[in-house]
Amino acid sequence: MKNIVILISGTGSNMAAIVRAAQQQDWARRLDARVAAVISNRPDAKGLAWAREAGIATAVVDHKAYAGREPFDAALMAEIDRHTPALVVLAGFMRILTPGFVAHYAGRIVNIHPSLLPAFPGLHTHQRAIDMGCRVAGVTVHQVTAELDHGAILAQAVVPVLPDDTADTLAARVLTQEHLIYPRAVAELILRV
Ligand code: GRF
Repeated sequence: MKNIVILISGTGSNMAAIVRAAQQQDWARRLDARVAAVISNRPDAKGLAWAREAGIATAVVDHKAYAGREPFDAALMAEIDRHTPALVVLAGFMRILTPGFVAHYAGRIVNIHPSLLPAFPGLHTHQRAIDMGCRVAGVTVHQVTAELDHGAILAQAVVPVLPDDTADTLAARVLTQEHLIYPRAVAELILRV
C-alpha cells in the first residue's frame, strides 16, 4: 500500500477534498494507496479535527518549539517518515522548507498554489492578480523544489476574474477548482511514484 502524508497549516479543505476522493473513489483498492497521516505545524489547525474524525492519524510538529528551520524540518521529516510515504502532499502548508528537506522527498512531494504559476509565486496571489488587471486567475499543482512555488507543473485550472471581484470572492472561486484538481493530480501521481 502506498502511503500519502498530507501537511496542513489551517482549514485543510484541500486535504479534506483528497481524503473524500480517496474514500469515494476507493483508492485503497483501485490505486493501492491511502492517506496515512495528516500533519500540521500549527496545533490549532482546523483540519486536524476533521482528519481525526475521518479516522486518519494526525500529528503536530509545532515550528514554534524549534530554534530554526533546520531542526524543525528534521523533526517534521522524522514524523513524516514514520509513515514511509510514497507521496508527501502540501495542502495549505505555510512553511518555507529547507533544501535538505526538499531533496529528501525529491520527485515525491507536491504543492498547490493559488495562482497560475509561474505568475504570482508567494503570498496575496488573488489581490495581486486583481491589481494587475488579470482577466483570468487560477490554481497550480506543482512538484516542490528548493525554490518557493517553482517546480514542474502537474495540473492547472483557470477561473475568470470578474469586474467586481475582491481577493475573497476570487479566492473562493479558485478554491472550488483546487478541490477538483488536487485530488485528481494526487491520484495520477501516486501511480507514478
Ligand atoms: C489554498 O488556497 C491553497 O492553494 C493555499 O492555501 C490555501 C489552503 O486552503 N496554498 P485549505 O487549508 O486547503 O483550506
